[in-house]
Amino acid sequence: MGVQHRAVLFLSAWALSSQAAFAQKATAIPVEAVIARAEKQYTGYFSQYPDSTKFPRSTKEDGTILLTSSRNWTSGFFAGNLWYMARLTNQESWRRRAAAWTETLEAEKNTTSTHDLGFIINNSFGQGYALTQNPKYKEVVLQASTTLVRRFSPTVGAIRSWDFAPFTYPVIVDNLMNLELLLSAAKLSGDPALARIAKTHATTDLKYRFRKDYSTFHVLDFDPATGQLRQQMTHQGLADNSCWARGQAWAIYGYTMLYRFTRDKQYLAAAQHAADYFIQHTNKIPDHIPYWDFNDPAIPHSPRDASAAAVAASGLLELSKYSKSPKKYQEAATAMLSSLCTPQYLAAAGTNNFFLLKHSTGNKPSNSEIDVPLVYADYYFLEALWRYKNYATLALQ
Ligand code: GLY
Repeated sequence: MGVQHRAVLFLSAWALSSQAAFAQKATAIPVEAVIARAEKQYTGYFSQYPDSTKFPRSTKEDGTILLTSSRNWTSGFFAGNLWYMARLTNQESWRRRAAAWTETLEAEKNTTSTHDLGFIINNSFGQGYALTQNPKYKEVVLQASTTLVRRFSPTVGAIRSWDFAPFTYPVIVDNLMNLELLLSAAKLSGDPALARIAKTHATTDLKYRFRKDYSTFHVLDFDPATGQLRQQMTHQGLADNSCWARGQAWAIYGYTMLYRFTRDKQYLAAAQHAADYFIQHTNKIPDHIPYWDFNDPAIPHSPRDASAAAVAASGLLELSKYSKSPKKYQEAATAMLSSLCTPQYLAAAGTNNFFLLKHSTGNKPSNSEIDVPLVYADYYFLEALWRYKNYATLALQ
């Protein structure tokens, strides 16, 4: 056996033993107490808002709850939260509620005006299919994926994110998350064309997304006629050359998920680089929860983004399963989750408009959703808790 081969075996054995040790210790986060809190919050929600054609998103400036229609990019998360409650409690009542808030989203499978069909359909119907194998849910996932690829341009090699100015053909880092719909659909249907489109998009993204220090640009804007990159910009971050915290978290999660489906080492490396940047910066913050943009000069008098922490924590737990250095990713995820489970971030029962987490930031430059609950923070928080609780047996594909 060559030295190189022995080194790989040693590293794999070390990674495995480190994973087993982490799984044994996985009691540090009060998962059961958070589930009990979530049961109270959602029971309160159902008693006040029983209409399953309305989807909770956030808190408005007047303090009341923001409910949306199914067309909103965040509409699928509440169903996803309920599917995670079904997984975490193994109770039929949560499956019934999850099904109710899933099935009212079905019309969106044909919506071509958004790239967020992954968030809308995969986190609701996709999660539901994973748990129930309901063939109707699979059909919706497949239909939505054929709708989403209508936004793909072979000239650019990417799916178009938004249709509004000043962008010409914007591809945002968030869009990596929507590729999970295509990769799942490719696996479910055996149609390699869907996977090819997802991989082409990821290859284009990878070419331009990162700066030298592996921080991310939020928006890549292309010329649709030539496929040339026009500009690297921001929309929700502080500046074109700053690092928007949730964008960096989408990159960690997105490239880790891409590695899960493809086993392409380039994606694993990208996920690790994005994660290392995120951890290096959150390690400077006592509770490890990022401010909304890593480069805001107003830090520490700047809003936090608990949603970025939740997305990153969930992504890092998965990344630790694939990495040869799992410990740093396990520790970073645990540090963030520990803080999110404290009263500073976890809402008391009956407060926070029945959302779980406080202190997220949606779009600071537009003065929108600053220091509020966000339904997607709760989604990735519940997913991270589920991944944490099942770490020893976590098999993501
Ligand atoms: N996809 C929009 C956001 O992350 O705010």
